[in-house]
Amino acid sequence: MIKTLEWTSDGVRFIDQTKLPTEEVYVTCRTYQEVATAIRDMIVRGAPAIGVAAAMGVALGILHSSAKDEASLHNEFDRIAETLGATRPTAVNLFWAIQRMREKFEAVAHQPRPQIKAALVHEAQQMYREDIAANQAMGRHGATLMPGSGGVLTHCNAGALATCGYGTALGVIRAAIDAGKTIHVYADETRPFLQGARLTAWELTKDGIPTTVIADNMAGAMMRQGKIQAVVVGADRIAANGDVANKIGTYTVAVLAKEHGIPFCVAAPWSTVDMNTPSGEQIPIEQRPHKEVTHHGGKQMTPDAALVENPAFDVTPNQYVTAIITERGIARAPYAESLRELASAAAVSA
Ligand code: MRU
Repeated sequence: MIKTLEWTSDGVRFIDQTKLPTEEVYVTCRTYQEVATAIRDMIVRGAPAIGVAAAMGVALGILHSSAKDEASLHNEFDRIAETLGATRPTAVNLFWAIQRMREKFEAVAHQPRPQIKAALVHEAQQMYREDIAANQAMGRHGATLMPGSGGVLTHCNAGALATCGYGTALGVIRAAIDAGKTIHVYADETRPFLQGARLTAWELTKDGIPTTVIADNMAGAMMRQGKIQAVVVGADRIAANGDVANKIGTYTVAVLAKEHGIPFCVAAPWSTVDMNTPSGEQIPIEQRPHKEVTHHGGKQMTPDAALVENPAFDVTPNQYVTAIITERGIARAPYAESLRELASAAAVSA
């Protein structure tokens, strides 16, 4: 099993996703500041993985705290939360995870220091286990939406590498294959960071799942040729009305899918659903360094005078979304209603 991230006695250990697929290198972050840097630099990435990494970062920060009294420990918690919360703005899982750690901290803050530390480490590890359980539940629900045989297109990486294991969108594909379906995956390369070409193709081929990498601009032609029967992607934040923020280029795929009558499914844990954000309009979109666009393999690809934009995510309006697969069940339009119903459904326990 791929160990995307892991709590160890030395700190939080990550597979370095900037080095894949050619090098399988692991890095151990020993301080919360190092975890924050790993998130910002995308050593760890993908909404659920970012969330659990931040929770482990909080645990690490409190574990190594030498704050003398309860008030200074509270101040230290705030500093840790602020540092980790300032890393990447779009994936709501980051803020959800920090908030959950804050609630745990407040519940135990009056206890002796060793108990506080143990409780926070335990909470972060529990979130890790729950994430895997959620992915497996999503897989069971979502497999029913996959074709019996044919091509399934995915964008970016919403797999084991983007989560604590198994994956959201790729978990749905894994579960469909385990259920006997014959699926060929088309992985958009996902410019500019190439999560599809580098990461999705790496983890799927490692599992022996037939995978074809295509440049992002080939998706429409593949659909028109009848090679794609369904699309399944992950999400970084889902608004209360079902608008979906995901990797830049997702919106294009959704529009193409609708034009070709192909179901467009989104798989995400409930921690990605932000019932406090009414629509996609309010979702903050991270702007990444221009160099990710202008350079490729260390070589400059664009003239110095050209202007550049690099939004890391886009928003797919809910009318393009066929189904939202969560561990609590499948939501369909009208999403304001179906998501509200799922909000009161029981959480999946690990
Ligand atoms: O910038 P990234 O690589 O963190 O973006 C990741 C995505 O957009 C994923 O599709 C999303 O986080 C879902 S991962 C299960």
